[in-house]
Amino acid sequence: MSVFAVDGGRRLSGEVKLQGSKNSALPILAATLLCRGECVLHNCPRLSDVEASLSILRYIGCTARREGSTVIVDTGSVTRYDIPAELMHRMRSSIIFLGALIARFDRARMSFPGGCELGPRPIDLHLSALRAMGADISEEHGELDCCTQERLCGANISLPLPSVGATENIMIAAATADGTTVISNAAREPEIVDLADFLNVCGARIRGAGESTVMIDGVERLRPATHVMIPDRIVAATLMSAAAVTGSNIRLTGVIPAHLQSVFPVFRDSGCELDIRGNTVRISAPYRLHSPKLIRTMPYPGFPTDAQAPVMSMAAVADGMTVFVENMFLSRYSHVSELCRFGADIRVEGKVAVVDGVRRLLSADVRAHDLRGAAALVAASLCAKGQSEIRGIEYLERGYEDFELVLSSLGADVKKI
Ligand code: EPZ
Repeated sequence: MSVFAVDGGRRLSGEVKLQGSKNSALPILAATLLCRGECVLHNCPRLSDVEASLSILRYIGCTARREGSTVIVDTGSVTRYDIPAELMHRMRSSIIFLGALIARFDRARMSFPGGCELGPRPIDLHLSALRAMGADISEEHGELDCCTQERLCGANISLPLPSVGATENIMIAAATADGTTVISNAAREPEIVDLADFLNVCGARIRGAGESTVMIDGVERLRPATHVMIPDRIVAATLMSAAAVTGSNIRLTGVIPAHLQSVFPVFRDSGCELDIRGNTVRISAPYRLHSPKLIRTMPYPGFPTDAQAPVMSMAAVADGMTVFVENMFLSRYSHVSELCRFGADIRVEGKVAVVDGVRRLLSADVRAHDLRGAAALVAASLCAKGQSEIRGIEYLERGYEDFELVLSSLGADVKKI
């Protein structure tokens, strides 16, 4: 069990270069299976979720090695099309391999990914879309067994909700399907655009990624390519929240400001000054934050659900009341009870959390229960004067690269024990 020991109450300063996006790396690593040969992926973050994906690729016969922030995957000698339960359960989003395995092998077998800390994580939209493209998928005893008699066929798929993972699985499966696939009500996240950019460099013909309608004209096969991942917008929002709760002035580099258009107003409403120039964002926090009033999580380009927890730490010490409405996941407030141990005043009723800002947080020993909740607790501990301990840091390491080093480089006193 990894633990952070934090001596909070310090002001941060300095500059951080943003890591590559976890939620770009995971689908793109799966998509390398469509290419026979060596793909070179730059700005690929060192995260346990990425390591889990590399373990899956190695298990099915790929070679995968890391050189700094570059990962090189060679899928030329793959032999298996199944993912064992222990690898599936290491990372719920391994479902993203389903479309790639079927497209490569006409077969795929994996255990049901199961729920996670955010509540049930259904995959009905993934399965119904792949069935519409001609895959036979049986679901028995928690196992998914998929096959297709011949190449997958393009189909018109209308998603009842803009699922990120389902959009990605369909794009990957459709890239080498026979005919054209049209996805209506597709997810519009920047990570969808990044995946489409990678697939198109490999020879796919995808149009409209980032919009609600995506068209994929299937091609015979894809060739290996080199790609640079986009930066991680949720890590950016998290670092901005850490700066806000400590009254700091820091600079983030390697940012794509367009990806944070629904996040910036929340910080400005809280009294933070943002100086955005090219790929850098300087945030200067006020002595006393104002409450951002209302935050509703929505599909992109709305406010991202992944930033809800880190931003709640900021609302916890802002002057006034903030109402959060979590529209994306059933139970994404596991950080609330732990934030209250820091002295936050937060009440949860269903998908609504009401935060009454307090003047300061008090040091505490807390435990993280999920990835973004862990980030929220770290931000809160930086604000609380004195010694805090945060358990469950392995959740944080799923999505935040060397976070104790990043925060220490900004002047925080954070030690991993
Ligand atoms: C992706 O998860 C991200 N993960 C999540 O980030 C992110 O919170 C989420 O998108 C929403 O933005 C990765 O990209 C690896 P969805 P995903 O399918 O694809 C329901 C993080 O912190 N749904 O858009 O699983 C689902 O239950 C992680 O980095 C179905 O009902 O999200 C949820 O309520 C957490 N049936 C909603 O849609 C399905 O078949 C959105 O899920 C699929 C999803």
